Amino acid sequence: MRLIISGWHGQIARALADVALSSPDVEAFALGRPALDVRDPRSVERAFSDVNPDLVINTAAYTAVDKAEAEPDLAFLLNRDGARRFAEAAARRNVPIIHLSTHYVFDGMKSAPYVETDEPRPTTIYGQSKLEGEEAVRQANPQHVIVRTGWIYSATGRNFFTRILDLATTTEGPLDVVDDQRGNPTYAPHFATLLLDLARRLLSESHGTKGWGIYHVAAPGNTTWYEFAKEIGENLESAKKLSIRLNPISTAQYTTLARRPPNCTFDCTKFDDTFSLRLPLWQEGVRECVNSWNKATER
Ligand SMILES: NC(=O)c1ccc[n+]([C@@H]2O[C@H](COP(=O)([O-])OP(=O)(O)OC[C@H]3O[C@@H](n4cnc5c(N)ncnc54)[C@H](OP(=O)(O)O)[C@@H]3O)[C@@H](O)[C@H]2O)c1
Repeated sequence: MRLIISGWHGQIARALADVALSSPDVEAFALGRPALDVRDPRSVERAFSDVNPDLVINTAAYTAVDKAEAEPDLAFLLNRDGARRFAEAAARRNVPIIHLSTHYVFDGMKSAPYVETDEPRPTTIYGQSKLEGEEAVRQANPQHVIVRTGWIYSATGRNFFTRILDLATTTEGPLDVVDDQRGNPTYAPHFATLLLDLARRLLSESHGTKGWGIYHVAAPGNTTWYEFAKEIGENLESAKKLSIRLNPISTAQYTTLARRPPNCTFDCTKFDDTFSLRLPLWQEGVRECVNSWNKATER
């Protein structure tokens, strides 16, 4: 299958491109700015006519959650208007789209994991722009799968895992980590592998027209940032690489411009039931991420 992956340079696009490289049935064209700028209709059209894709995966987005509070126009330009433009270009060619969204569409006040029928109630510009992007994609292209996820990390790039490692090697004393926000830590290579499996399902003849819609997709099991950091630390210690000291703090002790939803957890039953696809447990992701980081640092 021929894919366009927008947002090349991004964490998820890179993971997708890596997995695609080792998948003989996938020809992935990971395109970033300036070759594919979702603000520029001509670059979007050119990408579609050059690649002639069977399916597209939109990872291009404005993802700076705090900065978005000061740059709402840019956030909406990319996350709503850019998503619409990309989805419309796909629809004109009868090409399905997998579009990525986020737990920030919810306010995080529910006491149980979020299901797809829960009412979105974003409390940040980022969340509002992503919610409007979902709606734009839904309207632009009937053949859409919108995947809401969260807490993605990997051994490279900028994410929670690499931030903890950086801080552990540069900070004296224990690291303060928030212990009252819950989510499903999801290892980017696992997520990417699952997205490509999803693409195969969507293009398979037996799939028919079922399955279009919104889904929650994240690693099973949920935890807090503090417990996530502890799991990273324990895996690093057992690999005798690094010892990390941690101090649990509350959200109130960690000021951010944009509000952080306390509950970012997902119920992924609908996705599992529809596509029979599941991610490994979140702890398995941490183990693999530490192994991958170990291998890279031993080289
Ligand atoms: N990471 C997470 O934990 C997480 C959680 C939930 C949902 N998501 C969603 O997953 C998707 C990808 O996330 P990510 O973590 O991979 O984000 P990321 O690392 O910030 O990557 C986003 C990419 O979008 C690109 N981009 C920005 N403006 C663009 C434009 N005008 N045209 C084309 N590309 C543009 C950026 O390119 P430049 O490098 O050129 O700026 C960057 O490569 C986003 O939709 C995000 O909302 C992520």
